[in-house]
Amino acid sequence: MICQLLVYIYFKSGKVIFMDGLMQKIVSLAKRRGFIFPSSEIYGGVEALWDYGPLGALLKNNVKKEWLKTFVQGMDNVALIDGSVLMHPKVWKASGHEENFTDALVECKGCHLRFRADYMEEGRFVGEGKAKAKNQCPACGKKEFTSPKNFNLMFKTYLGPVEDEKNITYLRPETAQSMFTNFKLVQETMRFKIPFGIAQVGKSFRNEITTGNFTFRSREFEIAEVEYFVNPKDADKEFDIWVNKWEQFFLDMGLKKANLRRYEHPKKSLAHYSKRTVDIEYKFPFGWAELAGIANRGDFDLKQHAKGSGEDLQYFDEATKKKYYPYVIEPTLGIERLVLALLIDAYEEVQGGRTTTTESTKEAEIMLKLKKNIAPIQVAVFPLVKNKPELVKKAREVTDILQEHFEVQYDEAGAIGRRYRRQDEIGTPYAITVDVESLENNDVTLRDRDTMKQERVLVSDLVETLSVKFNA
Ligand code: GAP
Repeated sequence: MICQLLVYIYFKSGKVIFMDGLMQKIVSLAKRRGFIFPSSEIYGGVEALWDYGPLGALLKNNVKKEWLKTFVQGMDNVALIDGSVLMHPKVWKASGHEENFTDALVECKGCHLRFRADYMEEGRFVGEGKAKAKNQCPACGKKEFTSPKNFNLMFKTYLGPVEDEKNITYLRPETAQSMFTNFKLVQETMRFKIPFGIAQVGKSFRNEITTGNFTFRSREFEIAEVEYFVNPKDADKEFDIWVNKWEQFFLDMGLKKANLRRYEHPKKSLAHYSKRTVDIEYKFPFGWAELAGIANRGDFDLKQHAKGSGEDLQYFDEATKKKYYPYVIEPTLGIERLVLALLIDAYEEVQGGRTTTTESTKEAEIMLKLKKNIAPIQVAVFPLVKNKPELVKKAREVTDILQEHFEVQYDEAGAIGRRYRRQDEIGTPYAITVDVESLENNDVTLRDRDTMKQERVLVSDLVETLSVKFNA
């Protein structure tokens, strides 16, 4: 019964119901082809926790590599750190998270289920289940709720074996804080002058109340963000520069311009640390929603940590011989949200199929038009048929050569058309077929995912030819 109720609430609180056709197709493809699985599925799964399977893990890694390439390798005044997930308990007091990182919850007096107070007020559940009006429980229809109570979204834990007050700390809900606590150390060890940035990508944890829309709102996810320290007088200018840079990154990753827009947060909805925030929203199948954000955090964090720790966290300007607290411009993004947006954006169905081989069917053919350098598998290698040992041997040799340079998948199962389709469905940009001619000429056919054009390439030229294509 409890399970049924939870499933019902899961359904009615905005998770499954928002999954329109496209969203369902993405969820199904993600599982069927090894991108994303429900966490602990053999135990029935856990709400808002996901495992990235063989292809998902590669895709996620490629996305992170591109991010690092752009914002760390590509910027000589930005340094990467890898901070710990657990931090000193005082960090979360000073940062304001212990007090402010909350959602207000109300409890239904009929069925004792809890809902976000603002969602009840807005009437988000009207028309769902038994909710006919605002402030009506979608599960039981009662209109009586407890008064709102703040619920902190951080996961609480204890440092060491003794579970008492003074050992309480939290799994970090953002990566930002270790970039503030390491501000001085990074600046000194890297001999940075302002403006400079600290970058980090890593796990963050939030005990979200309203979860759903697949991986969109998870309880464990990765944030990639930069804390960019600037002279306060340059903060507005730098903010605009970072909004443009951040948006450009999404375009460079292949997201369509028409599916991106900016949203300026009104003052009243700003996070406790922010002077200004602009979100970059993506047009998900369930509506426009935050993909990333850029905040001007002012000097809030450095001042708070200076106060909390007793350390002087001001920057000494050699030129003016004066000290000051820099402002922080913070571009941030959720890796899983970006992966989800990339899958949605790249998804195409070709009715009736694209291939004309005898194996082609009248079914819709699925393609993932992922940008070539983030595709989880870069090259597929097939022997034309698997019952000719010399073709299999040659295809294995080609695989060995390519594996040193690319992520390669060898596949000999089924007709060739079907194998191409399997690779199109996971976004593999290039497929190589070894046929009888290959044995005589030491060449193969190289097929392009998007144009389906095939060219013959000498095995000895393959690495070079593919490298040029990936870097084009
Ligand atoms: N340091 C600033 C910060 O953490 P945020 O907007 O709260 O800002 C950063 O989170 C990014 O993390 C968001 O832009 C979003 O892409 C992603 N994100 C936030 N909550 C998430 C969740 N529950 N599941 C998946 N991604 C999430």
